[in-house]
Amino acid sequence: MTAVRSPIHGQWSSRLAFILAATGSAVGLGNIWKFPYTAGENGGGAFVLVYLLCVALIGIPVMISEVLLGRRGRRSPINTMRELAGEERAPGPWFLLGWLGVVAGVLILSFYSVIAGWALGYLVRAASGAFTGIDAEGSAAMFAGLIGDPERLLAWHTVFMVLTVVIVARGVKSGLERAVTIMMPALLLIMVGLFVYAMGTPGFSEGVNYLFAFDMSAIVNRPETVLDAMGQAFFTLSLGMGAIMIYGSYLPKQASIPQTVVVIALADTLVALLAGMVIFPIVFSNGLAPGSGPGLVFETLPLAFGQMDFGVAIASAFFLLLALAALTSAISIIEPLVAWLVENRGMSRVLAAATAGIVIWLLGIGSLLSFNILAEYTVFFGRTFFDALDFLTSNIMLPLGGLLIALFAAWMMSRSSTEEELAVTERTRGAYNVWRFLVRYVTPVGVGLVLLYGLIQ
Ligand code: PHE
Repeated sequence: MTAVRSPIHGQWSSRLAFILAATGSAVGLGNIWKFPYTAGENGGGAFVLVYLLCVALIGIPVMISEVLLGRRGRRSPINTMRELAGEERAPGPWFLLGWLGVVAGVLILSFYSVIAGWALGYLVRAASGAFTGIDAEGSAAMFAGLIGDPERLLAWHTVFMVLTVVIVARGVKSGLERAVTIMMPALLLIMVGLFVYAMGTPGFSEGVNYLFAFDMSAIVNRPETVLDAMGQAFFTLSLGMGAIMIYGSYLPKQASIPQTVVVIALADTLVALLAGMVIFPIVFSNGLAPGSGPGLVFETLPLAFGQMDFGVAIASAFFLLLALAALTSAISIIEPLVAWLVENRGMSRVLAAATAGIVIWLLGIGSLLSFNILAEYTVFFGRTFFDALDFLTSNIMLPLGGLLIALFAAWMMSRSSTEEELAVTERTRGAYNVWRFLVRYVTPVGVGLVLLYGLIQ
């Protein structure tokens, strides 16, 4: 019964390489850009609590399932699902789960690249000393200037997509593995440094309190908070669209999946919480509004950088690392489609990466225009094109994908298959049973209810 498929796009050289790559995928704009602004829009603490619960009770078990499916299938998510469905005698249409992920990936990367472009634009501003002595109004004006200029946004979006395509075209191993080894620790170091700075600001305790004080009324007043928090958990952990599945397909057989996943989830959560504990103290110290939306990080951090010693160097390093963190996520978002084009369309990796890149680049133009020319144009319940894509992918498609992944691992695969893939021993049987219970019952019921509720709203 043992599946002996070998990976066809290469393999990570070690468990550590997988941890770094998957952490590179998880840690990105979701942690530093999206987490603070979504928390801010949802009033802080209540959102954070639900988000943390979702990471622990749903995110980690689903991530274990997604890596498990990937490593067992050893193909692009579409073909992995096809193979596994056949092997486990599950209904054929399960392969559509792979397609759901590919479509979600195309949609996500189209706007993700635009935001990553903001980070690139800010890198230039940081390096030229534009933040020095800036005040809250100046900072807001600088941000408005950037997003109000479609040509500049298009230029940065293009640069970012080209970088993504070039790395993906070169294959998994050579570029990527090495890059993440250096970048991830550097990013963490700067975040800790910024945290130390934030501790010295007058708004520190207010900021931290905002982030961690659980206030039930926030949820009662805005029940969508729960959907936002769940969506954030899936988005930040890169779950539900096949990115983690395909990275799992490059994982060597000996590596322990559960331990690896816990390390990745903890690292990701740590970066998000650090980002929050940097941003909100600066927000409150400068009398800014926490709920100001996607510009939050870009409007607040320059205030801090503009005041500190070596601010130009630190700010430049920060935006460089933010762009790089986005890049290590972007390559994982595009990889399922690229792998499928190679497997099923006989394309070379280079052609596959370029094809996927062009489609995504075109779609991204819609998002970048929704910050200026098309800002008044709403496509989906009063949302701009960008907001609609973000909502549809993070809050609907990723949770749905994650739910289906959990259902497949828990109900379609035989117990012996999952036990084998997770290398369960007498010592780890208890933990296995906890995982199985969570994916069998807690994930489907939890995600199902929140999704249903969200759709009714
Ligand atoms: N996890 C990434 C981030 O937080 C985004 C991402 C989503 C990556 C889905 C892969 C898949 O920035």
